Amino acid sequence: ERIPKVEELLGKMTLEEKIGQLNLLTPGGGVATGAVVSKNVEDKIKAGNVGGLFGVSGPDKIRIAQEYAVNDTRLGIPLLIGSDVIHGYKTTFPIPLGSAASWDMDMLEKSAQIAAKEATADGINWNFSPMVDIARDPRWGRIAEGAGEDPYLGSRIAEAYVKGYQGTDLTQPQTMLATVKHFALYGAAEGGRDYNSVDMSRVKMFNEYLPPYKAAVDAGVASVMSSFNDVDGVPASGNKWLLTDLLRDRWNFDGFVVSDYTSVNEMIAHGLGDLQEVSALSINAGLDMDMVGEGFLTTLKKSVEEGTVSEETITIACRRILEAKYKLGLFDDPYKYLDNKRPDADILSEENRAFAREVAKHSFVLLKKHNNVLPLKKNAKIALVGPLADSRENMLGTWAPTGDVSLAVTIKEGFKNVAPDAQVTYSKGANITNDTILAKNVNVFGERVSISKDSPDALLKSALNAANAADVVVAVIGEATEMTGEAASRTTLKIDESQKKMLRELVKTGKPVVAVLMSGRPLNISEEMDMPISILQVWHPGVEAGNAIADVLFGDYNPSGKLTVSWPRSVGQIPVYYSMKNTGRPSSQKEFEKFKSRYLDMPNSPLLPFGYGLSYTTFEYGKVTASADSMTENGSITIKTTVTNTGNYDGEEVVQLYLHDKVRSITPPMKELKGFQKISLKKGESKEVTFEITAEDLKFYNSQLDFVAEPGEFEFAVGGSSDAEMAGSFTLE
Ligand code: IFM
Repeated sequence: ERIPKVEELLGKMTLEEKIGQLNLLTPGGGVATGAVVSKNVEDKIKAGNVGGLFGVSGPDKIRIAQEYAVNDTRLGIPLLIGSDVIHGYKTTFPIPLGSAASWDMDMLEKSAQIAAKEATADGINWNFSPMVDIARDPRWGRIAEGAGEDPYLGSRIAEAYVKGYQGTDLTQPQTMLATVKHFALYGAAEGGRDYNSVDMSRVKMFNEYLPPYKAAVDAGVASVMSSFNDVDGVPASGNKWLLTDLLRDRWNFDGFVVSDYTSVNEMIAHGLGDLQEVSALSINAGLDMDMVGEGFLTTLKKSVEEGTVSEETITIACRRILEAKYKLGLFDDPYKYLDNKRPDADILSEENRAFAREVAKHSFVLLKKHNNVLPLKKNAKIALVGPLADSRENMLGTWAPTGDVSLAVTIKEGFKNVAPDAQVTYSKGANITNDTILAKNVNVFGERVSISKDSPDALLKSALNAANAADVVVAVIGEATEMTGEAASRTTLKIDESQKKMLRELVKTGKPVVAVLMSGRPLNISEEMDMPISILQVWHPGVEAGNAIADVLFGDYNPSGKLTVSWPRSVGQIPVYYSMKNTGRPSSQKEFEKFKSRYLDMPNSPLLPFGYGLSYTTFEYGKVTASADSMTENGSITIKTTVTNTGNYDGEEVVQLYLHDKVRSITPPMKELKGFQKISLKKGESKEVTFEITAEDLKFYNSQLDFVAEPGEFEFAVGGSSDAEMAGSFTLE
C-alpha cells in the first residue's frame, strides 16, 4: 500500500535528489570496518546527497547533521541514523553466540528492547542487527555474532531480536528499525575464511541456511543488509535472484535493502566490472541503499541517461527508504530521537546493568564437572590465574563499538564483589599467546593481547606459587576479543599453547582446578576435556562479565546454558553439526569397518554436541511418549515426557524436541530440532513437558523448493541435548 505523503514527496523529487536518498555515509571517528571512510559529509548532506548516516551518536551531534538535512536541502528530508548495536548499546550484553546459549527467547527480546532504548536515547533510529547467519564453521570469526548452527533455533532468535528492537509501533521513540543480515549465506564462507565465496545447493539453502532470514522478514524486519560474499557466482549486493526473486517476490519483503560496507565497490574486485557497471547491476538487482562506497551517488545518473538503469528503478529504491523514514515518524518530527534528557535517564541504568548480568549468567555453559568442586565456597582460598582473569579490555567481546571497555567488570573484581570473604591471590600465569606475529595481527584494533615483559617461566612460577598456597585454582583462559569476530578467521581452534602449558602445570599441583573458558567460537578442547578439571564456558560476557562469572562460580546461579553450535574434536572434522545426514554407508562407529562414511582416526561425532550443557544439579528424563500413532495433515500429535531434578540444587533445563523424517523425497537429516522449552525445577521437583506437533513442523523444501510435509514415519526424541535417543515414532497419513 502506497503512503500518500511519500508519494507526494516523490512527485516533487528530481533524479539527483532521489539518488541522494540511496547514499549512506559514515564520517568515521568510531570503528570503520573497511579501508574507506566518507569525506565531506557535511557538504554532501547540505547538497541533498545523503539519505542516512551511521557511526555518529549523541543528540547534539546528530541534531547538527539532521538540521543540515532538514534546513539546508530543498525538500528537507530527514536522515536515517544507523549504528551497529550488536549486543547492547552502552550496556553490553554477552556476544550473541553466548546469549543464544541461554535458549531464553524472552530474555533475548528484552535485551534487544534495552539496546533499542539506549541507542534511541542517543539519537539512533536504525540498527544493523540481528545477524542471523547460520554458521557451522568455527574457523569463521563472525560465528561469534550469530546464534549458531541450527535453522529452527536461529529463526526463533531472529524473531525475538526483531520484536525487541522494533516493538509493535515504530513511531515510539524507544524503538528502532532492525536490519537482518547478512543476506545471504555469509556464514558458509568456504574454509571459514571471512568474505570468501559461497556455493551451495538451493535445497540446502532453503532448508538449512535461509530460514532465520525468512523468520526475520516474517516478523516484519524493516531492512535487510546484503552480504559481502557471492552466491552462485554473483556477489549478494548485485544478486537479483537473492534480492528480488527470493526476497521480494517469494517472501514479500516490503522494507529496504542496504549493502554492506563498500560491498558494491567490492564487486569490482569480485570481477564483475567497473564501478559504473557494478552499481547498475546492484540497483537493478534490488539493492536500495549503498553503504559508504558512493557508487550509486557517482554513477547512477549517467546510467539513467545511458538507459542501463531506469528512473523508475531509482524511484522504487527511493520510495522504500522514504517509507522507512515515514514509519519512524521522522517526517512529523525529524528531532524525535534527540531529547537531551534521555541519555542520562535511559543509558547504563542500574536496571540495565543488572539485566546484562542476568543474561550473562544464563549464557554460560558448564562443559565439565569434576569432583563436585563447583560451586566454590565463598570463604575459600583461591588462586585466580590466567591472562583473562584481570583483563578489562577483553570482557565485552567482538563488535561492541558502542560499548565502553573501561566500564567492564573484571573477574578479579567480580570475585571481590560476590565473595568478599574469599582469600583471592591473582596471578597472570601466562600470556594469551607468546606468538608476536599473532599478537600483532590481533592488536590491529587496539591492544587486546599484551605480551608481558616477564618471561613465560616467571609468569608460570608465580601462578604455581599461588596455586600451591590455595584450596582451589580458577584459571581464566581462552581467546582475546580480537581473536574473534570480523576478519578474525583461524586455522587452529586450540587454546594457545602458552595457556595450555600453564593449565597442565596447574593440574600437576594436585589442587582442584576450574577452567573458565572465554571464546567467541567453539574451540577444540579435546585435551582439556580429558583433564581432571571442571570447565565453565563463558564466551565474552559483556559489561557485567566478572560479576556474572562470580555469581555462577560461587553458586548464586546454577548454570543453565546449552551450546548452540557443535564443538569439534579437530579442525579436520569441520563442518560438524548435529543435523548430519545418514549417507548411504552409515558407520556404526563402534568398531572400524571399511567402506563406511567415517574417519580412520577419529569418530564422526563432535567433542560436544549441539544442545549440550551441564548443571550443578542433575536432570532425569522419564519415558517419552506420543499421544497417538498417527496424525492427519490437519491434525496434531502431542509428545510428552517428565523431567525430574534429581540432584542437590534448584536448576533450569532446556528440554529439546528432535524429529527424524525417516523417508522422504530428498535425503533427511538424522535429527532436526523442532521445539524447546526452558523449565525451572526445584531440587527433587518433577514437571511434565509437552510439545504439540502439527504438519507445519514436518515440512521441508523439496527438490522443486515447495514447502511440503510428505506422509510417512517420523521418529521423535526429547532430551537435554541433540544426543537424545529416538524414543518412538508416529506416522503422517
Ligand atoms: O553492519 C556492519 C556489518 O556487519 C559489517 N560491515 C560493516 C557494517 C556497518 O558497520
